[in-house]
Amino acid sequence: MTTETIYDEALVPAYILPDPLVGLDGAPVKDAHDWRERRRPEILRLFEQEVYGRTPTQAVSVRYEVTDNTPGALGGMAIRKQVTLHFGEATDGPALHLLLYLPSHTSGPVPCFLGLNFSGNHTIHTDPAIHLSTAWMRPNPEGGVVENRATVASRGFNASRWAVERILERGYGVATAYCGDLDPDYDDGFQNGVHPLLYAPGQSRPAADEWGTLGAWAWGLSRALDYLETDSGVEGGRVAVLGHSRLGKAALWAGAQDERFGLVISNDSGCGGAALARRRFGETVERINTTFPHWFCANHQRYNGHEDALPVDQHMLLALVAPRPLYVASAAEDLWADPRGEFLGAQGASPVYRLLGTDGLSADEMPAIHQPVTSRVGYHIRAGGHDVTAYDWECFLDFADLYLL
Ligand code: GCU
Repeated sequence: MTTETIYDEALVPAYILPDPLVGLDGAPVKDAHDWRERRRPEILRLFEQEVYGRTPTQAVSVRYEVTDNTPGALGGMAIRKQVTLHFGEATDGPALHLLLYLPSHTSGPVPCFLGLNFSGNHTIHTDPAIHLSTAWMRPNPEGGVVENRATVASRGFNASRWAVERILERGYGVATAYCGDLDPDYDDGFQNGVHPLLYAPGQSRPAADEWGTLGAWAWGLSRALDYLETDSGVEGGRVAVLGHSRLGKAALWAGAQDERFGLVISNDSGCGGAALARRRFGETVERINTTFPHWFCANHQRYNGHEDALPVDQHMLLALVAPRPLYVASAAEDLWADPRGEFLGAQGASPVYRLLGTDGLSADEMPAIHQPVTSRVGYHIRAGGHDVTAYDWECFLDFADLYLL
């Protein structure tokens, strides 16, 4: 690594952000129509070519297998469903195991949160009826992972990150699936996961401008949404996509590409998520591309140490969500993810929201800790480190009450 990690605001280099409202040809965006027809597709294409890689668009056959549909779960408060999405025709092909809890006390379809999890559905709650994942897991001895497989000791390991009861109490559903079902989180040249299913004949790895692992995770979020749209318990037009950290990056990329998501929430997504790359604060493009070479497309490596050469920055990813509601959450001690850079990302997306006739982020300055900003682009910073807490969920729920309508 060539440079020290910057954790001091005074060391952030001067930079000029690309203007989301000026096209590559220098022409300013005239109006909402011009944004929609010209600049938005251009920005999306730039993120495809230079950052996350293009997501294949060919249809894949998907078969839904309902493996569990239980009323009266969680002491009576939930309906629990587990549905396997089998991709492709092969019986041993990739499959996404979706877990869905819906509140028992409501009648009719409910709005729903959807997010991937890090270590299997069985980690998000101690409910013993959640199927234990049999997929490959990153090493995590404290999390009950033995030889890259989950064990019963993994049950509920990440429960503090999923406020399931609270979500249900407040009238929402929650759906989740393991990211590794879509693409195991290690660099194998894209031989496992869903990539091979979408290779062109004779292709054996993605081209330099084609999807990496974040792209596959985002694709899977859209496939999960396809299912949720068919579930009579869920209001299809009111699904919020969210994610923490690397899965926050995937949630943003999914929300940017798939405009069916009615609300997009980033939690501590940092570099490659909501944080501005040009600040080089905390994790940099070079660091992320070196440690996780499989996350982005191969073209993204060109920007290692050359953030200023990027034709986009992350505020433009956030702008692709406009005019849909967007919420960015940071944690004060999570300097690796650059909380200030995440705030500035949200702020930088705001001109697009305003052009489209809504408010953007209403704060001119970063708010104090635990003072959420609840304009259409929302933001909070809480005390503590890199995590998803009950406080974060309370803010997401309040924001969803306001905007996921
Ligand atoms: C690492 C990585 C981050 C990522 C985080 C996580 O710290 O550098 O980019 O967000 O893992 O996913 O928890």
